[in-house]
Amino acid sequence: MILTAQEKEMLSGKEGNAVQKSMEILTSLGEIFRAEKFVPVNSVQIAGVSYHNLGDAGLEFLEDMAKDGKVRVKTMLNPAGMDLENWKEIGIPQDFADKQMKVINAFRKLGVTITCTCTPYLVGYNPQKGEHISWSESSAVCFSNSVLGARTNKEGGPSALAAAITGRTPFYGLHLDANRAPKITVDVQARVKGEHEFGALALAIGKQTKEKIPFIRGIKKASLEELKSFSASFPTYSGAAMFHMEGITPDRVSAPAEKIVITQKDVEDAIKFLNDECEVDFVSVGCPHCSINEMERIAYLLKGNKVSKETWITTSRQVKAEAEKKGWTKIIESSGAKIVCDTCLAVAPLKGRFKGIATNSAKGCYYGRGSNGFKTSFMSLEECIQEAVRK
Ligand code: F3S
Repeated sequence: MILTAQEKEMLSGKEGNAVQKSMEILTSLGEIFRAEKFVPVNSVQIAGVSYHNLGDAGLEFLEDMAKDGKVRVKTMLNPAGMDLENWKEIGIPQDFADKQMKVINAFRKLGVTITCTCTPYLVGYNPQKGEHISWSESSAVCFSNSVLGARTNKEGGPSALAAAITGRTPFYGLHLDANRAPKITVDVQARVKGEHEFGALALAIGKQTKEKIPFIRGIKKASLEELKSFSASFPTYSGAAMFHMEGITPDRVSAPAEKIVITQKDVEDAIKFLNDECEVDFVSVGCPHCSINEMERIAYLLKGNKVSKETWITTSRQVKAEAEKKGWTKIIESSGAKIVCDTCLAVAPLKGRFKGIATNSAKGCYYGRGSNGFKTSFMSLEECIQEAVRK
C-alpha cells in the first residue's frame, strides 16, 4: 500500500501503541485485498461488543487498546450482551454483567459513544450518499450501502476499532465504484407487504444470488421498516453486503444481462423454511432494533392486554426515550412486555433459556436457531403480539 508520511509515522509507533496496532491491522487487511491506499472515514460502528462473543481474550485486547488509544471519528457500538441499565430484569447473571461493563468501560475510555444499536441510522448517525464509513453490523452495513448510498465493507470488530483509532480504512471492496456494480438482475413477481414478508423475500433472493450483488426490480414501494428488515435478512442469507433496489438505491447502475425471477411461491417457501413446528415460550420483536413507528404500533396492539410469555421489544435507548415521551413505553410495559435496550436475541446469553421463539425477523430466525438452538415461529409483527398475549 502507498502510505502518506503521517500513516508511516502511525505505523512506526510514533503516535503510540494503539495507533501502531491499528495501522498493523489495517495495512495487513489492505494488503490481503490489494488496496492501494487508505480512505478517510466519517463514522465507525463497532460490532463484537457482547462479552458473550468477545470472551476474556477480546476484553483483554480492548483494555490494552484503551491504555493509550482514542477514536478520532464519530464512533458507536453494535448491541452488547445485555441491557446496560435493566440487565437484572432480563435475567442476566451478575458475573456476566460485570464482564460486560468492563467491555463498555474500555470502549468509553477509547472515546466511543455508548450507543449500542444496529440501527444507528435511526438515531442520528445517518451517512450520506458517497460518504466513506467503516461499519460492522451486517444489517447496518447493508442498509447504509443499499438504501443510503454510503460506502462501507462489512468490517470485523478489530478492523472497525482500528478505523476509529486511525480515522481511515483500506480503499477496497464496496468503497470502489467497480465493486458496487450489480451482477445479476432480479425480477420480483411476488407481492410482499410488512417487515416479515420483506425479510422472507430477501431470503428467497439471497439464496439464489449468493455472493453476487443483485439489481432488484418490481418492488413498487417499501417503508423504512420493510427496508430495515430486508437489509437484515439479505446479507444473512446471501454472500453480499449490499443490493440495488430500483427507485431506492441512490447509486446509478444498469440492469445486468443475467436474470432470475422471484415468484410468490419462492416467498412462500422462504416463509415455510423459517417456520418450525414449535411451542412458543419467547416472543422477540425488534431485529433490527425497532423504529419509533414500530414502537407506536406495538403500544397500540398491547394496550389493555397482558402478555402470557417472556416478550422482548428490542430497540435503541434513544428510540425508547422518544417512545417514553409519547406514553408508549408505559403502555407496553403495563402489558408485562419488556422494552430491552442495548442488546438483542442474537448477542444476549440466551442459550437454554427458551425453546421456541416467535419473531417477525428472518435474520432473528437464523440466529435464534444457530446461536441459541431455538425452534422458530416466523410471523408478522401483529401476529407476534397476538402470540405474546395468547393464553
Ligand atoms: Fe440487530 Fe441483533 Fe438483529 S444486532 S439485526 S437485533 S440480530
